[in-house]
Amino acid sequence: MDIFRTASALRAQARAWHRAGLSIGLVPTMGYLHDGHLSLARIARARADRVVVSIFVNPTQFGPGEDLDRYPRDEAGDLEALAREGVDAAFLPSVREMYPEGAETFVQLERLPEHLCGMSRPVHFRGVATVCTKLFAASAADVAVFGEKDYQQLLVIRRMARDLLLPVEIVGGPIVREADGLAMSSRNAYLSPEDRRRALAVPRALDAAEALLRAGETDAAVLRAAMAGEIAKVGAALDYAAIVDPDSLDDVLRVEGPARAAIAALFGPTRLIDNRLLHAS
Ligand code: PAF
Repeated sequence: MDIFRTASALRAQARAWHRAGLSIGLVPTMGYLHDGHLSLARIARARADRVVVSIFVNPTQFGPGEDLDRYPRDEAGDLEALAREGVDAAFLPSVREMYPEGAETFVQLERLPEHLCGMSRPVHFRGVATVCTKLFAASAADVAVFGEKDYQQLLVIRRMARDLLLPVEIVGGPIVREADGLAMSSRNAYLSPEDRRRALAVPRALDAAEALLRAGETDAAVLRAAMAGEIAKVGAALDYAAIVDPDSLDDVLRVEGPARAAIAALFGPTRLIDNRLLHAS
């Protein structure tokens, strides 16, 4: 596996691949890789001839007081996992490489970031959209794969790529869960054993919404209240429990077609998110 630390070196390799008629699949990550990330690399492998995984803890998507400084890192372990997975190249740029001295250009969506996570993380999606634009430029990716756990992020990137006419197809990969149902996340590493147990309230909240809908309840307020109730039962702090249109992320009043149940809750300082597609039967 090749390791690149500068955009110019990665771009030179990408050009050589393209000249040889090979397509490129990119999986952007912030490292501390788990099976969820590796599943995205497998999706990229199925859709492209060469797979690049980027590892970059992007400072601009963290707000003041968020976990940038303590975000878990394990470069050696990550590189081993990627090599085992048969990834062709890893891209590990420095902050200065991605944000050159005096950088002042950002990519900002107008509307999608105003929902869900964007309400409590106002700079987050501007940072995500900006860094992904740079990663797409550096890798010349034909396809980029993002996990559906960060459902709003997936929509933001897809909208941004479309709006900016970027020649990259954005593909979503299904949420990968631990055996007990908790969605895999690098941030799970922060959880104390007690918070790890309490965190199961997050997938339980989605189960509750789904069960109510299956029983015929279509009032989104009732579904939201049931989701919030699961978080309250374990004494965690709810950020949001929402039932939204899967494209616009606007709140829905009644679930009459496809909708997304989405939740964010804090277990001590650790913020976990999850979501599920709901279908009215
Ligand atoms: O989902 C993540 O890990 C990050 O938000 C991403 C897409 C790598 C951008 O920094």
